[in-house]
Amino acid sequence: MAFDSKFQISSDIEKYVDPSLAQEMSVATPEQKVNSLFSYIEKRGQSFYDEVVTQLEHALQCAALAKQKKANPTLITGALLHDIGHIILDEHSAREAFLNTDLNHEEVGARYMEPFFPEAVTIPIRLHVPAKRYLCTTDASYYDGLSEASKRSLKLQGGIMSDEERQAFEKIPYFEDGLVLRRWDDLAKVKALDTPGLETYRDIVKQCLQ
Ligand SMILES: [Fe+2]
Repeated sequence: MAFDSKFQISSDIEKYVDPSLAQEMSVATPEQKVNSLFSYIEKRGQSFYDEVVTQLEHALQCAALAKQKKANPTLITGALLHDIGHIILDEHSAREAFLNTDLNHEEVGARYMEPFFPEAVTIPIRLHVPAKRYLCTTDASYYDGLSEASKRSLKLQGGIMSDEERQAFEKIPYFEDGLVLRRWDDLAKVKALDTPGLETYRDIVKQCLQ
């Protein structure tokens, strides 16, 4: 099963992790932490991961869906930051060898944010990738709605979960938040959609800092 609370980021992956944001955030007031986080996302999020939206647009669309659904501040923050691992790993379409290797962006993002945010934020970040396997296992309409590419990648990601895997997944705290986050993630890829900007989330993110 893809989720393991003892997951270690291998040195092969560690070498791609940009330490600069964590360094900035570790010595700062809450206000400064949010400043560092937002300016990092703003600057580095202009790249594309998906072909239709920038990483910043994707994050803002995902957070807007969470806010529209009146999710908890922790889950809105998780929605905003769920793919920050891609940015920290500098994974984007203009980069050489893009998509050649899975750098476990969900684990990297969750681990990276753990010193700053509680589990209610970081676990949904960690789970948004295995959540696809769970949803495909338990919801036929979810599977049917996936693109052909996404159905193919499901196999590489481990395919349908066994009963044992599904039960283990359901024991993880905040697993339901991971599932709803995954559904918003799938929807947050609309070209040129007008969404509220990062500043909308300043107080929400700040109140989640630990
Ligand atoms: Fe995403």
